[in-house]
Amino acid sequence: MSGAPPDWYTRAMGHIWLPYTQMKTAAYPLPVARTQGSRIFLTDGRELIDGIASWWTACHGYNHPHIRAAVEEQLAVMPHVMFGGLVHEPALTLARRLVGLLPPGLDHVFFCDSGSVAVEVAMKMAVQYWLNNGVTERSRFVAFKGGYHGDTFAAMSVCDPEEGMHALFAKVMPRQIIAKLPVDPSSTQVFDSLLERHAENLAGIIVEPLVQGAGGMLFHDANVLRHLRAAAVRHGLLLIFDEIFTGFGRSGTMFACEAAGVVPDIITLSKALTGGTLGLGATIATKKVFETFLSDAPDHALMHGPTFMANPLACAAANASLDLFESEPRLARVAAIEAALTRDLEPARNFPHVTDVRVKGAIGVVELDRIDDLGELKRRFVEAGVFVRPFRNIVYLTPAFTIGEEDLKRLTGAVASVLEQWTRL
Ligand SMILES: Cc1ncc(COP(=O)(O)O)c(C=O)c1O
Repeated sequence: MSGAPPDWYTRAMGHIWLPYTQMKTAAYPLPVARTQGSRIFLTDGRELIDGIASWWTACHGYNHPHIRAAVEEQLAVMPHVMFGGLVHEPALTLARRLVGLLPPGLDHVFFCDSGSVAVEVAMKMAVQYWLNNGVTERSRFVAFKGGYHGDTFAAMSVCDPEEGMHALFAKVMPRQIIAKLPVDPSSTQVFDSLLERHAENLAGIIVEPLVQGAGGMLFHDANVLRHLRAAAVRHGLLLIFDEIFTGFGRSGTMFACEAAGVVPDIITLSKALTGGTLGLGATIATKKVFETFLSDAPDHALMHGPTFMANPLACAAANASLDLFESEPRLARVAAIEAALTRDLEPARNFPHVTDVRVKGAIGVVELDRIDDLGELKRRFVEAGVFVRPFRNIVYLTPAFTIGEEDLKRLTGAVASVLEQWTRL
């Protein structure tokens, strides 16, 4: 870092515990002064072009004036009120708008405060769907290799057990069935027979549709999802789509389920839901699921209620984000970004150690056979003026949809030139 770090940084770094970080050895994080559009401004005066959009949330860039104004307006009226026994306009409007955007059938919205909790709620809904139907044995899930659904315990249990960062907890997590995605005849046969064997103990199937994100930025096609839908129907299982990453345009259409033409029984949303402004999650279920919770028996209700669920500021931000999807050509920009990523990352395919280059929507991936020193690679990206967070053997870009042509060019250019040097070492 050039220039002295600020006082607030040096005085407190010894007290902070960072995510996914070996605190003993990791390089110190970069202190940020402010963000704007696709830029991160560091306290030492450096400016980075952001390739990640804050873990895929800031789809309209940072600090979009329309979202900021909506949050400021809401702040003056009601920053928060509990959702138990009370409701408010931003949440109800958002629920109505989400239902309007999703494929017909996904009608009942439960809000929470993060992606992992949205997944917990989806899994709880699926298990209780069966309990409320008088079936006590169906409590397990089929999930997939390459999948990632969050860091809380139930969500961890449906992540890829090897690649999903949670292998350490194998003994304390609920035991699920982790299958290969049915992408070809042999994996389809294995998957089908797995379901035959276990169906009586299964509540549902959970999958990230079209793109498995944090588990490896892996793409599959819509036929896989059609197969899952048919298998779920055949065995009476609930199909859960986790669109926390793919939702809101990231994979090319507003939702991946729309591109695939498959309607799940439950869908989870978060990340770009508020345009990257505030934490919010939503679990949306079909009438079939919702109606099993309608009963005179008190324990048939969904016993879940995060304190900050449906936070009015977050809902106001989400409504403003949806306004922007309506009023500005976001999905057209995603298509333009897809074309630019394809054009500008493709040459990396010829670098030594690069095993694949793939692009879908506003997701660009360069896969290497291995990356030995992730910390050093990250440092080189910063030196090149960009913020990129490679993981395992993957370098990827998920920029804001509003990123300018020039910045996108500099971003892909930096990735190409850093990797060119890196792979020739
Ligand atoms: C598909 C998917 N599901 C769930 C989560 C967890 O979301 P959160 O980090 O908000 O808990 C993530 C986060 O990366 C995700 O990509």
